[in-house]
Amino acid sequence: MNSPHVVSKPVSDSVSRQTSDVCLESSAVPSQDRQSGLLAAAYTSAQYLERERQTVFSQAWVCVGLASDLPNPGDVYPTDVAGISIVLVRDRIHPDSTSPPPLRAFHNICRHRGLQLVDKPCNVSGRIQCPYHSWTYRLDGTLKGTPHFGGYYQDSYSGFERDRKGLIPIRCEQWLDLVFVNLSGDAPPLTEYLKPAIERWSDYDLSLLRRESREVGLECNANWKLAVENFSESYHLSWVHPALNSCSRMEDHFGFDLGGPHVGQGSLQYKSGVVDGRSLPTFPNLESSGKQTIAEYITVFPNLMLGVHPDYFLVFLANPISPDKTAERMLFYFVGDGAMTPENQALRHLPIDLWQVTNDEDIAMIERMQIGRQSPGFDGGCFSPELEQTVYQFQQAIARAVGS
Ligand code: FES
Ligand SMILES: [Fe+2]
Repeated sequence: MNSPHVVSKPVSDSVSRQTSDVCLESSAVPSQDRQSGLLAAAYTSAQYLERERQTVFSQAWVCVGLASDLPNPGDVYPTDVAGISIVLVRDRIHPDSTSPPPLRAFHNICRHRGLQLVDKPCNVSGRIQCPYHSWTYRLDGTLKGTPHFGGYYQDSYSGFERDRKGLIPIRCEQWLDLVFVNLSGDAPPLTEYLKPAIERWSDYDLSLLRRESREVGLECNANWKLAVENFSESYHLSWVHPALNSCSRMEDHFGFDLGGPHVGQGSLQYKSGVVDGRSLPTFPNLESSGKQTIAEYITVFPNLMLGVHPDYFLVFLANPISPDKTAERMLFYFVGDGAMTPENQALRHLPIDLWQVTNDEDIAMIERMQIGRQSPGFDGGCFSPELEQTVYQFQQAIARAVGS
């Protein structure tokens, strides 16, 4: 964890101004003599979320799904970035025989009159077809069919610029099974963005990860940032998660600095689950780095949470639906083909069950945090210099992005 002697620093003026602009009374402006957090409007205001869409969620790399959500050529998968509808498309053409067909991302709107083009995952054998007036697009996004657009039985008219009416592409890159998009198109390369996490976890052979089909998905009545903040601190462990705390206590946790907008913490006392005297395969060579009992968690700015354990890997996405509603998705990967046998299913389900219980306990808290932000008495709160610097850093990163 960071030094307890952190210099007191208020959240940036721009965010104070931003939130004040939105709806706060002057009495709720944060104190200037200590670390203070984002004001209530950052969690309750539609304008603030719109500002986050324009800044945080446009400028960063945002994880929007998994490559394994589109395993087959022609698979089409609608998703969204903080409510901005996008569609992922698996092409049919292999650039070479050794790699899978490319994955592309587009804004999920028909270029005719703006209908949301795809509303559920599907596989297309030919082109993507808009259901409204039947415009069709190739999987590379180019516009192909425009029936009767030039008049009855004429697909075009003089001057219609078909080439300029393809689907609007979005920059899209992949790390492991995770698919990221960058709406602004000018973020650094994905591997550079993720470099602190990649280097921190270089002892783990992540190429061994195998996806478990069971996943956890839910909606909670809280702002997306509360889910991220909750994941990023272990201060609440003793009181909210008594079962978890009995095997991995608050004082076994530590924070680590990643030198950027991402924050990290970990536990020194991770124990693998055991069923009938057996446990799951672990990453090789962890003993040499002393990591056989260590679990680490990284919050990749803005809304992707990752956890590495000796025997599994967690992916946790928190995507805003509205200021006070968040869609959560938890995915689990295990180590090597040997972990994925039917005999190991009960072992694989142990951490999933634990995360489900733990997350239910967390959601009860963050939904009440959301209610607390309706109070004029909320002044941004304050942070433990030892145990909550990750939350403070996350809020600072939001403040910088939103204010820029
Ligand atoms: S809106 Fe798509 S074809 Fe008309
Ligand atoms: Fe928790």
